[in-house]
Amino acid sequence: MATDFCRLFSVKHPVVLAPMGRVGTPELVAAVSNAGGLGLAPLWVYGPDKLRSEVRRIRDLTDKPFGVNLNMDFRNDDQLDICLDEGVDILSLFWGDTGDFVGRAKAAGAKVIITASTAADATEAVALGADAICAQGWEAGGHVEGTVSTMALVPAVVDAVGDVPVIAAGGIADGRGLAAVLALGASAAWIGTRFLSAKEASVHPEYLARLLAATENDTGHYDNLYDIDWPNAPHRTLKNSTSAMWEAAGKPPLGQRPGEGDMLARRPDGGEVFRYESASPYAELKGEIEAVSMWSGQGVGLVREVQPAAEIVREIVEEAGAVIRSLR
Ligand SMILES: Cc1cc2nc3c(=O)[nH]c(=O)nc-3n(C[C@H](O)[C@H](O)[C@H](O)COP(=O)(O)O)c2cc1C
Repeated sequence: MATDFCRLFSVKHPVVLAPMGRVGTPELVAAVSNAGGLGLAPLWVYGPDKLRSEVRRIRDLTDKPFGVNLNMDFRNDDQLDICLDEGVDILSLFWGDTGDFVGRAKAAGAKVIITASTAADATEAVALGADAICAQGWEAGGHVEGTVSTMALVPAVVDAVGDVPVIAAGGIADGRGLAAVLALGASAAWIGTRFLSAKEASVHPEYLARLLAATENDTGHYDNLYDIDWPNAPHRTLKNSTSAMWEAAGKPPLGQRPGEGDMLARRPDGGEVFRYESASPYAELKGEIEAVSMWSGQGVGLVREVQPAAEIVREIVEEAGAVIRSLR
């Protein structure tokens, strides 16, 4: 099932581990890359020293291609400098103005993937020099910029960008989803929520239990629910006590919200996580995890068991192959 995406990034399978802040450990990234997919590391959440050490850790764990994800809403020159200095040759940029990052990355020999949620944004990204586009539909978990579903978005983006490989994101959780997006013209699938149940992911046990129990109907898309620390960034999460409390109060803005100021959890370094804060409930967080932003896509109904990441990749690829053969 080698596609243009596989040839461009020198990987065996058209499966991308979506970058997932704090959750996507070096072990998870390397496991997906070692299994023939492309692991993307969400290193924008770290300061310079940790970012560098995470890149080195991934390199210790795999000699296969992997990439680093940087958030353009918090664009930081040092982060790009460190990636290029460490020889990272695949960069994934998301959310907003990429500034001079594409030019600098390409001048250093790196390939750049830009996330887009409309055909117009994808066209602009290609004009900037993107080597591939991640087309993120609104089924996706985590921060979601657009409001168009994967089914409608992917063919529109494919038509808009010509030969540039398109990677479909949002709601793809098994081989049927991979086969479906390949049929829509995508060159690979970018999968987040399904990998939250990978053995190598850093996911708090309470969050994991809720993901495993959730149906496709248990997520909500919110414009500004978890807007402390990252305002104006719509997102999809599991519904929980915080979303219920806020909706019951008529979705008021910050400053007028019930439970505002509640300290919900602590990070290992003692840092506090407050209600309405944008924070991934990773394994080491301690506290009232259920009330924290438990990012999840609608594909969560297909997430049923904890498995090694390599097994997830293998299952998805084999199932997609079987589906495609059955359609012939
Ligand atoms: C827990 C979680 C954290 C995420 N963090 C990031 C991130 O740091 N950077 C990014 O580009 N996308 C992030 N996303 C979005 C994913 O990259 C991807 O677009 C999404 O997971 C795809 O949809 P799916 O969850 O239905 O597979 C995150 C998603 C989740 C579920």
